[in-house]
Amino acid sequence: MKPKILVTRAVFPEIIELLSGHFEVESNQADEVYGEQELRRRLQGKDGLFSNPTDRVSAELLAGAPGLKAVCNMAVGYNNIDVAAATAAGVMVTNTPDVLNETTADLGWALLMAAARRVTESEHYLRGGLWKKWSYDGFLGADVYGSTLGIVGMGRIGQAIARRSIGFDMKVVYHNRSRLSAEQEAYANNAQYLSKEELLRSADHVVLVLPYSPASHHTIGAAELALMKPTATLVNIARGGIVDDAALIDALKKGTIAAAGLDVFENEPAFNPGFLELKNVALTPHIGSASRPTRMAMASTAAKNLIAAMSGAVPPNLLNPEVLAKRGGHV
Ligand code: GLV
Repeated sequence: MKPKILVTRAVFPEIIELLSGHFEVESNQADEVYGEQELRRRLQGKDGLFSNPTDRVSAELLAGAPGLKAVCNMAVGYNNIDVAAATAAGVMVTNTPDVLNETTADLGWALLMAAARRVTESEHYLRGGLWKKWSYDGFLGADVYGSTLGIVGMGRIGQAIARRSIGFDMKVVYHNRSRLSAEQEAYANNAQYLSKEELLRSADHVVLVLPYSPASHHTIGAAELALMKPTATLVNIARGGIVDDAALIDALKKGTIAAAGLDVFENEPAFNPGFLELKNVALTPHIGSASRPTRMAMASTAAKNLIAAMSGAVPPNLLNPEVLAKRGGHV
């Protein structure tokens, strides 16, 4: 008998086909967003879960699914999963690192350019029929080339963002939980390690790429925004909750900083409507990894993790290897 799995959201049909070769698959190609009760109900009797960042995999949910062996998230971020509770319950958890680094770094740059050079704001002006004459001071923005780029969270995506800055003749400063090796710093456009406060004071543009956890909640709030230059741009491609969105709206209104580029929001998709009243913000709906090849690579990585986990192998992207001891050394 094939193991039973639940795929919580719509995914490429090729992936459903791949999974169906190994599992009895309950899929959701209609792409409903399951609430907690519905997810709990559908998880009954399942051996594996192919999850998405929109699913909250809590201790309660895990307790209600005693047969579950693995949760394979189709995302690099896994703050939607209570990993400690999964470990305690003997459930393997995996994510999809690496395959999205470059695509997500590209979007960070797109938002930085759009916000600093007022691309979306001026497009709205043009689309609104307001463009009647060229003027010397129309939509003056901040230069990106030759400026100082501050990166908070210098993991694989942060380093990919830093490498792109070489072509813009930029200086890179970064802050991270731990300092990179000398080789990694050299490869990341000779990035210089600074404290968060020093970085916020000295950078012309700040990009946030750190993982969300209770420790990184509101890494950027009113006090941190006050340290930034009034000409600075803030880009968040990490997770909602890393920035205090109400404080950011206030700072953008008052001119504490010049502009922001945001792909993620607190309580998304129900983001703070205050952003819509601002011109100096470029907004995208959590599309950091959204290129077809990258989303396909993420889906296929999640599927491979699930196939490995169910077949007795250690999944390539296991986040909680301690679970193996808990499972008596058996996957
Ligand atoms: C998307 O946000 C991800 O974590 O992969």
